Amino acid sequence: MGQTPNRGFTVWFTGLSGAGKTSIAHRVRDEIQRRGNVSVEVLDGDVVRTHLSKGLGFSREDRDTNIRRIGWVCQLLTKHGVPNIAAAISPYREVRDEVRKMVGRFVEVYVKCPVEVCERRDTKGLYRKARLGELKQFTGVDDPYEEPLNPEVIVSTDRETVDESAGKVIRRLEELGWLGR
Ligand code: ADX
Repeated sequence: MGQTPNRGFTVWFTGLSGAGKTSIAHRVRDEIQRRGNVSVEVLDGDVVRTHLSKGLGFSREDRDTNIRRIGWVCQLLTKHGVPNIAAAISPYREVRDEVRKMVGRFVEVYVKCPVEVCERRDTKGLYRKARLGELKQFTGVDDPYEEPLNPEVIVSTDRETVDESAGKVIRRLEELGWLGR
């Protein structure tokens, strides 16, 4: 019996809150599903934190635990041929690289946007709370974000539409031969 090629891979979105990770992730999911006639799983930090990572906070330790949990699920899905997408701030380089190694077929997308722009958007009103001191350890305000050094894709959401950013990710997956045209 011939072997079925493994179609699993992980697209990992990292960037500040409000940078646009979720919107682009959903657009990319729709396109992968349409092209490959496959079901794609999206693991969104905000959602995962209501289930798998419920109770975790925003210390470095808790964020790293959250990312390892998401990464572990991504690794399982990838191993079983299910394309999957993670969208979490994932501010620490070391644990992102750890997940990259664990997953193997991994594309890191840096969703780049100046903090001032994210703050102006303030889609969830959290930057305001952080500035008022009502929310501590908020990424980009009083907590660090470590940019990826060698991401497969960089999207600049202060200058690109969601479609343009999603298109860059899709092209990269095509180049890697992981997605049919
Ligand atoms: S991560 O750092 O562990 O990767 P994750 O993406 O899961 O974070 O969750 C971030 C979301 O939690 C934000 O989009 C925001 O809605 C919410 N949030 C609440 N408190 C914080 C905080 N201190 N820093 C960042 N995000 C926070």
